Amino acid sequence: MPSPSNVSQRRRHPARPKASAREARPENLREYAAAWSDYELLDAGGGRKLERWGEVVTIRPEINADADALWPLAQWRELAHWEFVETSSTQGRWQKLRADAPESWSIAYRQLHFNLKLTQFKHLGLFPEQQANWRFIAERVVPGARILNLFAYTGAASLVARAAGADVTHVDSVRQMLDWANANQTLSGLADIKWVLEDALKFAGRELKRGKRYDGIIMDPPAWGLGANGEKWKLEHQLPRLAETARGLLQPGGFLILNTYSPKVGLQELAAAGLHFGQGQSETRQLWARSQTGNDLYYGNLLRAVV
Ligand SMILES: C[S@@+](CC[C@H](N)C(=O)[O-])C[C@H]1O[C@@H](n2cnc3c(N)ncnc32)[C@H](O)[C@@H]1O
Repeated sequence: MPSPSNVSQRRRHPARPKASAREARPENLREYAAAWSDYELLDAGGGRKLERWGEVVTIRPEINADADALWPLAQWRELAHWEFVETSSTQGRWQKLRADAPESWSIAYRQLHFNLKLTQFKHLGLFPEQQANWRFIAERVVPGARILNLFAYTGAASLVARAAGADVTHVDSVRQMLDWANANQTLSGLADIKWVLEDALKFAGRELKRGKRYDGIIMDPPAWGLGANGEKWKLEHQLPRLAETARGLLQPGGFLILNTYSPKVGLQELAAAGLHFGQGQSETRQLWARSQTGNDLYYGNLLRAVV
């Protein structure tokens, strides 16, 4: 892998203009993901990021990469196997930059294994900046703890909790995501996660009525989507209900992690949602990563609360 020393610093590719309306990003709230053997953020800037996933290097658009990249774009393209080229704000295509570029492969994080593949939404099936949440879960979860993962995607948080001995319920409304998460469970040598194909809020509401309680709830809701009855769903509107429902489902001593990448949900909105847990029972944090070239990259906000 390259190092800053072998690349000219004179031909940086330039920063994109900064987004105009941006909330404060206080340094004391930052939680940084650290590189690990199978993943590193190599460089970031100019509206893109350069990442290594095992042996495979990708270039992807990144709206928050508004600093100057340290290495020239031509150098990025020499290193990368794939580049996601946006054709509109919501669509794009993967461009193969090397003949040996695989379309799917797997990487490890500690004892866990994840299948990666190129998706049409520029994602690969893992959000490495979630590592701060994975660390929190691994530290907090004890064997036998009941953990509910809502909007659970390909299962990274579910697997971290299951590996710590938790009894995990994983909820996602998209069948392909459950299949992908299940394959990651098998690949990681784990078993017995309970898979639920359903609208997250509908399931959580039903669990509440059934009197079910959990020791930890993890959720990473999308910024918008479709709800149980096909209605348009916007996180900024659903946030109070999500927090209230989670509060009702948690046992004394239980925790909530509510993560968001939505630009409409800032620290203030999360702090307000945290008030469902009572004064002093919650904190807001931000997910960040530092590239190997030293650029800091902001990803999103989160609420942690305890009962
Ligand atoms: C941003 S991803 C979660 C990423 C995950 N936390 C991680 O780090 O790997 C959002 C997930 O929510 C799911 N989803 C969207 N709307 C949903 C709904 N109404 N109920 C349940 N899941 C939903 C999507 O299928 C997707 O898997």
